[in-house]
Amino acid sequence: MCGIVGYIGRKQAAPILLDGLSKLEYRGYDSAGMAIYDGTQINIEKSTGRLKVLSELTHDGSTMPGTVGIGHTRWATHGEPSDKNAHPHFNEARSIAVVHNGIIENYMKLKNKLINRGYHFISDTDTEVVAHLLDYYYKKTDGNIIDTITKVMHRVEGSYALGIIFAEHPDKVYALRKDSPLIVGRSDEGNLIASDVPAVLKYTRDVYFIENEEIAVLSEDAIEFFNSDGEPIEKESKTIEWDINAAEKGGYEHFMLKEMYEQPKTVRDTLTPRIKDGKIVIEELGMSEEEIRAINRIHIVACGSAYHTGVTAKYIMEGLARIPVEVDLASEFRYRNPILNKGDLVVIISQSGETADSLAALREAKAQGITTLGIVNVVGSSIAREADRVMYTWAGPEIAVATTKAYSAQLIAHYLLAIYFAQVKGMVTDEEVSEMLTDLKAIPAQIEMLLANKEHIQKIANRYVGAKDVFFIGRGIDYAIGMEGSLKLKEISYVHSEAYAAGELKHGTISLIEEGTLVTAIVTQKELYKKTMSNIVEVRSRGAVVLAVTNEDNTEIEKTADYVIYIPQTNKYFTNSLAIIPLQLFAYYVSVGKGCDVDKPRNLAKSVTVE
Ligand code: AGP
Repeated sequence: MCGIVGYIGRKQAAPILLDGLSKLEYRGYDSAGMAIYDGTQINIEKSTGRLKVLSELTHDGSTMPGTVGIGHTRWATHGEPSDKNAHPHFNEARSIAVVHNGIIENYMKLKNKLINRGYHFISDTDTEVVAHLLDYYYKKTDGNIIDTITKVMHRVEGSYALGIIFAEHPDKVYALRKDSPLIVGRSDEGNLIASDVPAVLKYTRDVYFIENEEIAVLSEDAIEFFNSDGEPIEKESKTIEWDINAAEKGGYEHFMLKEMYEQPKTVRDTLTPRIKDGKIVIEELGMSEEEIRAINRIHIVACGSAYHTGVTAKYIMEGLARIPVEVDLASEFRYRNPILNKGDLVVIISQSGETADSLAALREAKAQGITTLGIVNVVGSSIAREADRVMYTWAGPEIAVATTKAYSAQLIAHYLLAIYFAQVKGMVTDEEVSEMLTDLKAIPAQIEMLLANKEHIQKIANRYVGAKDVFFIGRGIDYAIGMEGSLKLKEISYVHSEAYAAGELKHGTISLIEEGTLVTAIVTQKELYKKTMSNIVEVRSRGAVVLAVTNEDNTEIEKTADYVIYIPQTNKYFTNSLAIIPLQLFAYYVSVGKGCDVDKPRNLAKSVTVE
């Protein structure tokens, strides 16, 4: 999704904007640009392609003097990726420049009205409407900017985080948001706006989270805030605790690899604060034991990999706490008029906390008066702020588009929640809890062991760099693991891949198997070994090559599978945390082998802030 940055201060703006944009590259983009006031006028440089192109075009920003500016990385929605559609966009007089993340849903209607009033459009974007609309109201309000901005705010529908500069007010950067993320950073060297914290971390840890329909006005030494009526409001800044190195590659070739290697720490950080005196305590849940016992049904709602952790959670929560669980894709949940009853709990899972569909699902549940719990990674994100309760996954900033460490942290959060609910409901004995805790505490070291086996997996991956199709099969939790393994592979290596519940093969899927097709079979659930083994035999007899991921005591499988990757012994409910590691590595090495852009795969965005 698009990324926006802005700076006003004593330093040259362009290098700061370029640096900030580089920290937002993970969001996915196809073009980039900057608008900078040079003391006389606003200049814009923009181009399709990577940030490198913009850096070259501006000689690392040196050809753009000025200490006030805004910048943008564009992920095309309206209008193809092209120089003319890249942001910033100007009004006709080139006195107002705008950058935008989001979608102006009523842009066609507004565009037609503006054309009727004599405005000319250069681009095919929805954003250009905002530049002209600002121009229109600026003239109508005799240059009252706050009035202008609130009027525009009331006219546009959809989602936006906007950064704006006016040539007639060059001592200010203006910013506002609705449903797209926006933060303001305060530093001694000047003030900044950005779509996400990593873009400002180099300069400050003092950050304001802008709420829906709030306006921020930044000058060199001050930051003011206004509500949608244009009235001044007070806001408190938050201190970001992240280590700046967490948002850098730190010697690894890719962020994805670095983040895979951070998984042992992530698991520890998510686990440790919730274990007290041999029991699980999730204080932030703020639910009394009575409230927990009264939960009728849990609805888990999320997108992508977060959804996959929800599928795993269903098996565990139902298995341990015997609470019925429904798992929904947020984009489906929000429009299917879900039946939610008193006593239900809606759990929204999201790394970014900004995914548009997940946020909408949260709002739908809240509108129906249902208690909501956000399992979120980004502190202070929209879902974290709007959910009734928040349980943070302590994964730190995740930059690679393909999630790994946040996924692992989400799994841990689900385990903790399931054991905690089971504990409160008396469904597990103290001894069982203590055994599970022992297994949980062992996971970080076990992940380290699996990561150390990377060369073995790289060798297998190298053989499948040219694969056309890869299938993942499994039953129960193994099916959920396969879903994530398959998504990892296809999103970063562009190899077509699907995950199937192994028992479904005979109902159509097996016709896809050809001589040499790779089938990855996940076989970690003892009670399902035999069943999945039969499916392995079935695909092999139709020519498939089988890569099995199984428990270390299941050596029998070597007689049937072509390649075997063993995972260490753990509780049957926790196998996902281990089995996913080789699948992440496999996807990573296929992607590297194909020469793909591992961290920023084509067409994808890290946080999907439009529906
Ligand atoms: C997976 O690797 C993806 N990047 C994607 O599926 C992601 O999990 C999904 O978009 C949800 O994002 P969120 O956790 O930030 O809500």
